[in-house]
Amino acid sequence: MKFENILVNTNDRVTTITINRPSKLNALNILTIKELNIALDNLSNDESCKIIIITGSGNKAFVAGADISEFYKFSKDQAYELSAGGQSKLFDFIENYPKPIIAAINGYALGGGLELAMACHIRIASDNTLMGLPEVSLGVTPGYGGTQRLPQLVGKGIAMELILSANMINVERAERVGLLNHITSQENLISFSTDLAKKIISNSSSAIAASIKCVNSNFKDGENGYLTEINEFSNCFQSEDFIEGTNAFIKKRKANFK
Ligand code: COA
Repeated sequence: MKFENILVNTNDRVTTITINRPSKLNALNILTIKELNIALDNLSNDESCKIIIITGSGNKAFVAGADISEFYKFSKDQAYELSAGGQSKLFDFIENYPKPIIAAINGYALGGGLELAMACHIRIASDNTLMGLPEVSLGVTPGYGGTQRLPQLVGKGIAMELILSANMINVERAERVGLLNHITSQENLISFSTDLAKKIISNSSSAIAASIKCVNSNFKDGENGYLTEINEFSNCFQSEDFIEGTNAFIKKRKANFK
């Protein structure tokens, strides 16, 4: 399928989605969110894709935020739809996606860009990256889950500071506070991310999907994460991957998951 604002490329079971609006620092407009949703929806049933890397085009920005030029004249109702629609179509969709999604952050990750990275399961950034939620400097709160996911990752105190100050932080601080898993150079970003992706997909896809569900369950209203874990753990015992993984261990050979 041909997209206007994203590129999708699968190689050896690793799919890279590149947000491709470099002249606007890859700002997330409504069309880009829609295209990301369609691409991810298609990939969820695509057996050739086991893991996804999301990155930005160019060497300056991952995503410099939601597209301000698109929403600055919106009414309250339009803003509600922008936030609710975006959260369900993209940010929540990514967080609950059954295949792992790595954010390969190649520069500015601001506002909706940081929110996108935070919705992903793992974050790796190039050393030129600056991260922040500058929304209050525009007279608005974060709207794509930033006020919820940032405290989950870095704790309430640091999240409050970053949100209220609108400050950008560099990668060293971002890694220190738990916002980043790894830092690498711009030129090694995709190969570093791909190496981790390949390590992840050597494991059982069904156990990976179940583990994502269990971890997320801790952060969901009305869900008991421990109970989710008990259910998912026991469900695994019916899976082909469990038979293969445990038999491979007993027979002292490498597991070969389908
Ligand atoms: N929405 C819409 N357009 C954006 C954008 C955004 N969030 N971020 C950058 N752009 C556009 C700029 O308007 C500019 O477009 P133009 O050339 O047509 O004028 C282009 O991308 C390049 O950005 P520019 O500001 O010229 O680059 P810079 O290197 O001087 O500054 C930033 C980089 C990231 C500091 C600056 O672009 C910025 O502050 N962006 C907004 C960040 C933000 O507040 N995000 C949260 C939004 S909710």
